[in-house]
Amino acid sequence: METKILCVGDVVGPGAVDFVSARLKSLRNSLNADCVILNGENAASGNGLDIASANALLNAGADIVTGGNHTWKRREIREYLAVSERVIRPANYPPGTPGFGYTFTGCGGFRLLVINLLGLVYMDPMDCPFRAADAILRREKGNFDLCVVDFHAEATSEKAALAYYLDGRVSAVFGTHTHVATADERILPKGTGFITDIGMTGPADSILGIRSDIIVDKFTRRLPVKFDTAQGGIVLCGILLTLDCETGLCTAIERVRAE
Ligand SMILES: [Fe+2]
Repeated sequence: METKILCVGDVVGPGAVDFVSARLKSLRNSLNADCVILNGENAASGNGLDIASANALLNAGADIVTGGNHTWKRREIREYLAVSERVIRPANYPPGTPGFGYTFTGCGGFRLLVINLLGLVYMDPMDCPFRAADAILRREKGNFDLCVVDFHAEATSEKAALAYYLDGRVSAVFGTHTHVATADERILPKGTGFITDIGMTGPADSILGIRSDIIVDKFTRRLPVKFDTAQGGIVLCGILLTLDCETGLCTAIERVRAE
């Protein structure tokens, strides 16, 4: 028996939240997805995740919303994450950080474990994501049939290294954070699906979702700038995973794009 999971890349700004609200349910139906995992760390205006956006993304049809390094920008999200089982933040923050780094949801009648991790290369110091993954898999052994990891990281090598480290132990590892979809989706030798980055859901005419003139200014003048989400048509990027529910491994991984 197989199940399909749609994973949606970083939702950037209120326009993208509206796009997801309008389109996710029909996309989910047309792809026959039993479950949707969506990265929401930049959903609030000016990045971060606010409570209204988190609720909108869940109401739009996301089963689980994952986070990243920008999750915390809106202070209000701390209390929300502390009790939410459907909106999570990376698991390798230090002990005592509000919220959960992994969670469970039903997927086609099977138990899906979703883990969120943060990379260390070119990012703030965190606990080791490799050890954090090991600890979760050890602790939850026997409690899940399928496991998907959102690895929110900058370096392509670190993302591939975690995927190979977990090959055969989890269903899939997908990367987020760079906002640019990579063309390297594949199934690793022991059966784990992997892609370096699934891309973003945000304004197409932009640099990573931000107004291009602001980013060009930042690079040409080297002065501090305030990020503003770009306007215009939204493009949704993600992947569709097909998983074997008996083995817990991946049988297909395809890129998804909707505009
Ligand atoms: Fe990020």
